[in-house]
Amino acid sequence: MTDRLKILVVASEVEGLVKTGGLADVARALPACLQAMGHDVRIVMPAYQRIREHWRDWPAQPMQLPLSLFENHRVQARTGTHAGLPMILLEHAPSFERPGVYDDGYGAFDDNPRRFAILSKGALAWCKANDWQPDILHLNDWQSALAAFYLAEHYKDDAFFAHTRSLLSLHNAAYQGHADARWLQPLGIHEVFFRSEIFEDYGRINLLKGGIHFADGLNAVSPGYAEELVTDMGGHGLGAYFRARKNNLIGILNGCDYGQWSPETDPDIAAQFHSIDDTGKAQCKIALQREFKLAEKPVPLLVSISRLTDQKGFHLLIPALENILKNEDIQVVLLGSGDAQLAAQLHSLEQRFPLKLRFVEGYDMALAHRLEAGGDAFLMPSLFEPCGLNQIYSLRYGTLPLVRHVGGLKNTVVAYNNDGSNLNTATGFSFLDPNANALQQALEQLIQLYQTDPATWQQLQRNAMAQRFEWRDSAQQYVDFYRQLLATPRSTSTTSKH
Ligand code: ADP
Ligand code: GLC
Repeated sequence: MTDRLKILVVASEVEGLVKTGGLADVARALPACLQAMGHDVRIVMPAYQRIREHWRDWPAQPMQLPLSLFENHRVQARTGTHAGLPMILLEHAPSFERPGVYDDGYGAFDDNPRRFAILSKGALAWCKANDWQPDILHLNDWQSALAAFYLAEHYKDDAFFAHTRSLLSLHNAAYQGHADARWLQPLGIHEVFFRSEIFEDYGRINLLKGGIHFADGLNAVSPGYAEELVTDMGGHGLGAYFRARKNNLIGILNGCDYGQWSPETDPDIAAQFHSIDDTGKAQCKIALQREFKLAEKPVPLLVSISRLTDQKGFHLLIPALENILKNEDIQVVLLGSGDAQLAAQLHSLEQRFPLKLRFVEGYDMALAHRLEAGGDAFLMPSLFEPCGLNQIYSLRYGTLPLVRHVGGLKNTVVAYNNDGSNLNTATGFSFLDPNANALQQALEQLIQLYQTDPATWQQLQRNAMAQRFEWRDSAQQYVDFYRQLLATPRSTSTTSKH
């Protein structure tokens, strides 16, 4: 094994090209860091129509892609660079020539199993076609989980990949890639693998579950989430299968791209600032109040940036805010897109509290920066949170996070004890019970501290701004895990087990 590893990252989204959530941030920042450490990293992603200008002029390499005896596809591999990273975008018009990434706005695409099988197998086919032998196949979530199976079974006897090991990162195990059993043949999954320890899940195919079985290594994107996944409560229905792999499952906390998220250099904010003693943070708050036509007065300004989905705890947040807004002089600005029903509830909350609350429905990256900079506190009451990035960004801007004590949130935010015993380490607020009451109490604690004890509030801000979650530390843990996997025989050989 040489020091320089060949790492093939397979991801369905990469920041700067296509992003629906934090996976994209990671799929750009981690490879960049690994590359800076001297490793040879390539990223494979679909050539989505919506980013055609990026790849239209990149050289195209035709490849045959047999998924099974019944499905042989013609794919073009487009190679180029994005933000200094070597990219391989797989062009397959029947799969990716459409506006959506995973869905059409109403529901998931029916042919997602094939679309992401093409990504998964295409990654391996590209390696062979280009005689590029990867040490590590780094997969991310259900969309590329099948690659672990293809490596272990379709290429089982292929000396080319004999040395390659697969790692499946779990960014969000609630999304599992379910498919009707009729997809077994087209995807090239022999029916011996359609049993409950592997792909079968209540009569359907579960792609993530298959990946959990076949990947040589697994990692959750925080130690907290790794602990939760092996439980029945926190395993998204797959707890037993995570437990079966617990010796190969670790937690590696995501890092933060401080090149993009630092108040000292952020080009999107009203005034840059180095510390809370600068006037910059206060200017950012006033700019935000002006932008949203909120009174320019020193009341707590709470912000949130989120996908609108049940995961993020809106059914706790909406009633808790409703109660608090009736009694307290606070301001709230929420940014989010996703579930239409949640959006409707947030619009209606805005109508009831027109002087206090604004809801911006949409996806707006520059506004996300202005909110991080101008808010006093950041709300993230997630039911589960594999890692969470926004609370990490918030810390850097001295915007104190209020989080539920779960997953990566509990690894990144130190909740303030009301007795002041952790004054020098606390960075935010938290609650545990997943109900609106518990959240409301934490909100009250936050508001009271803001109103009555500015010195403590500022100390928490200082503590928060001093926190660092550096990608190079996380990347080093990935490299250590890669090397451990490379030093170990392939973990699963299944045909003997039935
Ligand atoms: P998740 O991946 O579960 O959505 P994370 O906190 O890990 O949660 O990452 C979310 C990322 O997406 C952050 O970079 C955040 O700023 C961004 N984001 C989410 N929703 C929006 C939005 N409506 N507008 C702008 N950025 C958003
Ligand atoms: C997922 C998770 C989020 C995590 C992100 C990046 O989208 O929901 O918690 O930060 O992936 O790993």
